[in-house]
Amino acid sequence: MKAVRYHSHGDSDVLVHEEADRPQAGPGQVVLGVAGTGFNMLDVAIRAGIVRELFAVSLPHTPGVDVSGTVTEVGPDVTGWSVGDEAVAFLPPTEPGAAAEYVAAPAQLLAAPPRGVDLADAAGLPVAGLTARQALYEHAGLKAGQSVLINGAGGGVGGYAVQLAARTGASVTATGSARSRDRSRSYGADRVVDYTETPVLDALSGQRFDAVLQLVRTSPEETARLVDLVADGGVFVSATTPGPENPERGVRVEQVEVRSDADRLAELVAAVDSGELRLEVAQRRPLAELPAVHDEAAAGKLSGKTVLIP
Ligand SMILES: NC(=O)c1ccc[n+]([C@@H]2O[C@H](COP(=O)([O-])OP(=O)(O)OC[C@H]3O[C@@H](n4cnc5c(N)ncnc54)[C@H](OP(=O)(O)O)[C@@H]3O)[C@@H](O)[C@H]2O)c1
Repeated sequence: MKAVRYHSHGDSDVLVHEEADRPQAGPGQVVLGVAGTGFNMLDVAIRAGIVRELFAVSLPHTPGVDVSGTVTEVGPDVTGWSVGDEAVAFLPPTEPGAAAEYVAAPAQLLAAPPRGVDLADAAGLPVAGLTARQALYEHAGLKAGQSVLINGAGGGVGGYAVQLAARTGASVTATGSARSRDRSRSYGADRVVDYTETPVLDALSGQRFDAVLQLVRTSPEETARLVDLVADGGVFVSATTPGPENPERGVRVEQVEVRSDADRLAELVAAVDSGELRLEVAQRRPLAELPAVHDEAAAGKLSGKTVLIP
């Protein structure tokens, strides 16, 4: 089969579209014929070798933690999944991933994909949706009537976070540039601050939010000023730069480490099915363009969710 792999850590030029052995389903696994794999910055960090302590991969490694596809083989000890079933999953980051025609996936991580959504596009849901959900509910404990700032609403995580927060009944302030402004508004943001026009910290100076969700990398000084935007007793939740502790004002500072969770993923799928959550893919790209996608992401050229098609 064809896969994009890397034989050493490094820049995007280590990614090669090449022949690789087709995986077989081990105990507890299924093999999926890949319809799509969602691009995530995590794949860039693992490829570059900067998160080796957390995610030690065997080389050559196939990236791609988000997958949608169709079951082609069922391994021993798997119940509930049959050949021909469609599924989505957030795959274990240290195992061979879905930037390939086929991938072996733990059956316990699978959820049925949303109905009425292109199967390849469904690969845009798992990591971004689970990160947004875990950040807003498990870390921030967001409730109706609260105010939340979503810093970095134009990305994959931010798009789901705006929708989930708005659906919860929170008032949502989003940051984003012109390319995501209308999308964030249509997702329910009450206000969008354009970070390319005015520095966010200047635009929001003096304001306070019950929760701030940090999805952008900032300097320690900027991060501390973002924590200053949290109301007394509120919460700063970061998926990127950790916030400094702020015990004086009772601000909780939390760090998201997204985990794969088939039950929560099934809840997100149900929200898509019921029309409460929109699953939108900004770009579909051929898998062979993965090196270019890594470069574009690192250069800040991507907006919204990108899915690669093998
Ligand atoms: N800790 C975890 O478990 C975890 C899990 C998932 C993701 N993450 C991290 O969370 C971050 C967001 O993930 P993602 O998948 O949503 O990333 P993404 O899709 O790559 O986000 C890109 C978006 O960031 C926005 N952006 C860039 N600079 C900005 C700035 N200065 N102010 C406001 N927005 C800015 C851009 O918005 P516009 O289009 O509006 O310009 C762009 O669309 C990434 O750093 C990712 O690595 C962490």
